[in-house]
Amino acid sequence: MRRRRFLQSAAASVSALAVAQALAALARPAAAAPSVPGAKWRADPFALGVASGEPRPDSVLLWTRLYPGQARPGGSATDAEQAAHFQEKSGLIALQTIEVSYEVFEDDGLKKRAQRGAVVTHAGRGWSVHARVEGLKPGRPYWYRFHSGNATSPVGRTRTAPALDAAVQRLRLALASCQHYEQGYYAAHAHMARDDLDLVLFVGDYIYESSNPQYRIRPHTGGVPQTLAAYRERHALYKLDADLRASHAAHPWICTWDDHEVDNDYAAGQSAKYADPAQFLARRAAAYQAYFEHMPVMPGGPDTWGGAHQRIHQRWAWGQLADLWTLDCRQYRTVQPCRDPLKGGGRVVLNCAERDDPHRTMLGQAQEQWLTEGLADSRRRWRLLGQSTQLSSTGIDTPLGRTIYTDGWDGYSAARARLLQAVADMGQTNVVMLGGDVHQNVAAQLRVVPNDPASPVVASEFVSTSITTRGMGEGALTRIRASNPDIAHARSDERGYTRLDVTPQSATATFLTTPFPAQVDAPLNVQAVYVVDTGHAGVHPA
Ligand SMILES: [Fe+2]
Repeated sequence: MRRRRFLQSAAASVSALAVAQALAALARPAAAAPSVPGAKWRADPFALGVASGEPRPDSVLLWTRLYPGQARPGGSATDAEQAAHFQEKSGLIALQTIEVSYEVFEDDGLKKRAQRGAVVTHAGRGWSVHARVEGLKPGRPYWYRFHSGNATSPVGRTRTAPALDAAVQRLRLALASCQHYEQGYYAAHAHMARDDLDLVLFVGDYIYESSNPQYRIRPHTGGVPQTLAAYRERHALYKLDADLRASHAAHPWICTWDDHEVDNDYAAGQSAKYADPAQFLARRAAAYQAYFEHMPVMPGGPDTWGGAHQRIHQRWAWGQLADLWTLDCRQYRTVQPCRDPLKGGGRVVLNCAERDDPHRTMLGQAQEQWLTEGLADSRRRWRLLGQSTQLSSTGIDTPLGRTIYTDGWDGYSAARARLLQAVADMGQTNVVMLGGDVHQNVAAQLRVVPNDPASPVVASEFVSTSITTRGMGEGALTRIRASNPDIAHARSDERGYTRLDVTPQSATATFLTTPFPAQVDAPLNVQAVYVVDTGHAGVHPA
């Protein structure tokens, strides 16, 4: 009954997909109470801002989450306290669902409305709102806002992807990752918000579950999250940063995750701390749910909303210019090789032969097959692979042999060689890996056999430094550079993001950085510019 009433009351322009999505939202309602069109808010429910993502030629995904502030500003609230706070600020009785409406405009003056609709949300999904807006025109900006009762959200700007057959001359994206809240201010996001971008590609470590007291400029609230409530609080804390909200409101984001969204160095169902796998999967489900509740990303995959198994890897297109894959390097990977028997996760090891075991996988068999098949049938000019970490080797040669860090692709060397051999076999030269995680800017050549001049360069790599998280010391990085001639550029001393300009002729990475992550309004400067020319695998300085 309630579903039928919702269908009748939904605005006429709500697409079939949006209705399906609203029904999915209702699949786990908080209780059998009627949906209300709004609330009488006593606090701004849009304190976490607005965001958009998943740009397609005819659709985008709009996001917000009703969040009338923290029950205990600066402290950690219990579930019950936060629920009571929500009730008090919204003026609703408990256990209701809320309808949130949205409007999409063709102009920044909000005069020409292109779409309107509504979705229903409830406590079971953290009052988060995901509205997929369809029927849009390709390759153009749109402006949007939400309404709930007496409250209206800030205005966001988004952009649709160009038509699939369009002869596009430019894709300009910001590659970003690793934004530890405690370790700095989001000067990079403030810069990104003002930058002329088509989209933001965020490749992981959006939140950090852990703390490092050594570099604390502003504290996390709460301890290391284990529960859905604690992960929600962590995400909300990050979104309360005005610069991060501005970056979301300015551009559509395409996202994947790494480990810190859940737990440092986790591998599939295995926690680095060797907790009971069932217990870890329950924690992973909570972390994944909180992630989707706070991001302009819709979960896919075998589980319904709130499950431990969610698909985030996707394929995107930008006219005839580029195919873009976002990969999941955490959920399906084999556990790190040559493990310390007493401690999980990654570590630096000497002469680890296990890493070359062909059964080991970074992406999982299904995702790897999906990717290689997709690469084989790609006919666009560029093939960009957004993934969590660094593909090129960072091993260090010593008199006793080579040391590697087991959590990165070096720990999955057979899988890396398989991927690059597939690229080589296809004869494609315009393949560019885009990564994060290592808190340094990297431009590198990619060969099936790393650093071996006899093995041709088959692809190119750009890794962006962190938004805030500290990088490794110069001593270690000097040894990495000396042992890896394939690395053309590596600097870990600055924070920022990477602007990638893709044209039919080239893919150019501009590393934009600041040495002052502790300064709110630190300006970003150009650290270096590297280019890949069409038809020639490999990077060179501009
Ligand atoms: Fe990180």
